[in-house]
Amino acid sequence: MFERLEPITADPILGLMAACRADPDPRKVDLGVGVYRDDRGDTPVLAAVRQAEAALIAAQATKTYVGPAGNAGFNQLMERMVLGAEHPLLSSGRVRSVQTPGGCGALRLGAELIRLASPTSVVHVSTPTWANHVPLLSGAGLKLEPYPYYDRATGGVQFETMMAALERLPARAVLLLHASCHNPTGADLSQGQWREVLALVKRRQLLPFMDMAYQGLGEGLEDDAFGIRLFCAELPEVLCAVSCSKNFGLYRERTGALHVISATTAAAEATFTQLVRLARGIWSMPPDHGAAIVHGILGDASLARAWAEELTVMRRRIQGLRRAVVEQLRAHCPQRDFGFIAAQHGMFSFLGVSTQQVRELRERHHIYMTDDSRMNVAGLRQENLEYFARAVAQVLGG
Ligand SMILES: Cc1ncc(COP(=O)(O)O)c(C=O)c1O
Repeated sequence: MFERLEPITADPILGLMAACRADPDPRKVDLGVGVYRDDRGDTPVLAAVRQAEAALIAAQATKTYVGPAGNAGFNQLMERMVLGAEHPLLSSGRVRSVQTPGGCGALRLGAELIRLASPTSVVHVSTPTWANHVPLLSGAGLKLEPYPYYDRATGGVQFETMMAALERLPARAVLLLHASCHNPTGADLSQGQWREVLALVKRRQLLPFMDMAYQGLGEGLEDDAFGIRLFCAELPEVLCAVSCSKNFGLYRERTGALHVISATTAAAEATFTQLVRLARGIWSMPPDHGAAIVHGILGDASLARAWAEELTVMRRRIQGLRRAVVEQLRAHCPQRDFGFIAAQHGMFSFLGVSTQQVRELRERHHIYMTDDSRMNVAGLRQENLEYFARAVAQVLGG
């Protein structure tokens, strides 16, 4: 049977990773893969994670199944982290949460739920959006349509154009929004813009599907959740796919949650039974380890504080790099304004150079980023900022 399958080309990011690993040049700069890196280029295990993990291993008495909805304590603490400890929804009975294998699992489960409730639903995604949204959502049988988002001329959001496009969507259309630290552009909505989108979503009766993979890595744990909290407080139905991969550094532990807000407690209860059935049919039970670690951290006030401090260090490093790289670029490429990089949030930005120039950066200067010039800002280091800016100046012909 399998001889009928055609091979497909590998994900370009995998080829980029392999090429960078194989490059022996000591000056190489890896801006490709979307993981946080410290100033030594490492992605270490957080100290709070190590501590929670040690306590978990010492105390764990069984490896029996956790159940299809996962760790109930984790789900509850995640609701509080995402919505804020004082959010009116927490005591409303309208939120139901399921632990998922990473944010990807949450996106897929949310898509399966939408498909179950309304098989012809169309999900509207930003242009551009994270490449994996396409297989995750369309794999559940949903159709995807783009809406305008990133403005290449300013490095910000094309807000008027986006709003005009959303205004034309039919009632019950699904609107996928990045809660913060938009991947791949780094361009986020302001609080005022979130309020305007909320008014439109209400008026057009759209269903928001929020993807929050970087809470705490943009402006802070509270600010990054502004849009999600606002929408969840004001709308009858919202889906929130949340990842612990980046902010807890738990990438390979596959830790995330899907929070579904329903219009009534009865609808929430019915939705939960369906979510459990859907999860049973995909991964049956989520992996335990990462969620047990997050439970251990968020459930312990002093460990939660220690984790939040580590997260602050990561966020400040990214913010500092954004400012510093703009300064270096200003010094070496004065003909071009890169100021937008400092105004954006999270790990990603488009440098805004051509594919040819991206290749030159790779081949002549050992600087690796995807062909669309998306770079992981956290892959830069204080010591190579000037090298990077000089290389950009050279490929721009400055
Ligand atoms: C926009 C976005 N959503 C969701 C995810 C999900 O990540 P994971 O499944 O590793 O938790 C990512 C990870 O890169 C992402 O960038």
